[in-house]
Amino acid sequence: KKSLKVNQTEILILGSGIAGLYASLKLKGEYQVTIITKSRITESNTEHAQGGIAVALNVDDSPGVHIEDTLKAGAGLCNIEAVKIMAEKGPECVRDLINLGTEFDRVNNELDFTREAAHSKNRVLHALGDATGGEIERALVEVVQKSSGIRVEENTFVIDLLREADQSIAGALVYNEDNKKMEAWLAKAVVLATGGIGQLYKYTTNPEVATGDGLAAAYRAGAELMDMEFVQFHPTALLLPGAPSFLISEAARGEGAKLVNHQGERFMENISGKELAPRDVVARAIWSQMKTGQVYLDFTFASIQRLEERFPKISKTCLQYGIDITKTPVPIGPAAHYMMGGIKVNNGGETNLPNLYACGECACSGLHGANRLASNSLLDGLVFSAVIAGTIKKKKLTMPTWAEIINFPASQEGIQDTIKETKGPPQLKSEIREIMWEKVGIIRHEEGLREAAQTLEHYSHHFFPELRVEEMELANMLELSLLIAEAALHRHESRGGHFRSDYPLAREDWRKHCVQKKGDRNIS
Ligand code: SIN
Repeated sequence: KKSLKVNQTEILILGSGIAGLYASLKLKGEYQVTIITKSRITESNTEHAQGGIAVALNVDDSPGVHIEDTLKAGAGLCNIEAVKIMAEKGPECVRDLINLGTEFDRVNNELDFTREAAHSKNRVLHALGDATGGEIERALVEVVQKSSGIRVEENTFVIDLLREADQSIAGALVYNEDNKKMEAWLAKAVVLATGGIGQLYKYTTNPEVATGDGLAAAYRAGAELMDMEFVQFHPTALLLPGAPSFLISEAARGEGAKLVNHQGERFMENISGKELAPRDVVARAIWSQMKTGQVYLDFTFASIQRLEERFPKISKTCLQYGIDITKTPVPIGPAAHYMMGGIKVNNGGETNLPNLYACGECACSGLHGANRLASNSLLDGLVFSAVIAGTIKKKKLTMPTWAEIINFPASQEGIQDTIKETKGPPQLKSEIREIMWEKVGIIRHEEGLREAAQTLEHYSHHFFPELRVEEMELANMLELSLLIAEAALHRHESRGGHFRSDYPLAREDWRKHCVQKKGDRNIS
């Protein structure tokens, strides 16, 4: 404990996607801020977001209509207050994003809004055609790097949150990959913006960093998690042997691309909403078509000129794998995309633990309900990071001291005791991802979920990570996979992203959130 380097900062932000970066910009000036990020500053789900950011800024649109669409997609489980905050504060925050240098696509100098599934208006702003997240990340990173009050620590993995006896969060224990050393960071407040969990699944649109480390660390520290059974599967990711599950944006269907089965039939034609039905509906329709053959997204319905303008990244990536989207239908399949659940927060971004805040994908205010509306995730991260900055500014914060930390010896023990299973991490990792995909995926049922939970529980009792990022990530993946399987087992109905073949309908008595907390095996 004595040899450990102990750093201090006023506000510690974990994660460098839209939520972490924007929170830092809203807090700098009043506080000395440090952003800790697991890989390079730009590596996040934000960087990979294609379709865009939904915001009620178009002439025929209003926050009220955006609220209605969000509530409808959320399948009866949205926190209405949080939806209102997002839709009503969204325009102001997006204007700020533009002022900070984000260049959204324009036609005749006016912002160009596109349509995505389940939106009743053209409301989705995009940039560089289909590289919206990359443009937002570029703009924010440039401002952060020029800001004197923000320090950035890259390649730094969060091992655990540091706690005081009264459960207050006082910082984080991290592993710096560059110097291969464990370090501590003490802070007056910690903001988790660590993103999602896509890597728990065999097929995912998420980058390798999306292993849910912030969620797992918060859970171990005593934070409540909510709605963990609600995982969104994006209907259309590239599905080719040897290729990554590269996202093929929903905006493609918004611009007229059609889904066809191996016989060239448009199987969505008779379903309400057709290709632009809610994501869970489209994902399940594709999943059942795939039982008899490959499914394709056919861009040839759209004009070639429009395709080149709107989807440069998609067309370039497909071409790398031998597919010219202007001529050939693209083989696609669903892939894990977004976690609606996460660390339970109130409408101010506060968790149940003092001094711990969460925003973006790792947080769950209930805003997205059981199913997130397309392109609401970047807006959620943007708006609620600003909300958290406002909440923090109203608090009287004090700097903790190292002597007050109660959990460091325990976490050190956990990491350095290495009892090795015969299964090495790479094998265990692919097994977890396979189990999650097959048994805790798009269509679930009691027997499969029970088997998944038992196997995952067995592994979690036998795998102890060494002080290596790969192993600590794996431990987090295992912990969260089990929590998702247990939550999915618990919910005896189908709603939004959670579909149970043994309970195929939504039930009024299940119109409620489920909360999981360490040390309490009952889901409330
Ligand atoms: C997409 O471009 O289809 C993804 C947008 C989103 O997940 O909201």
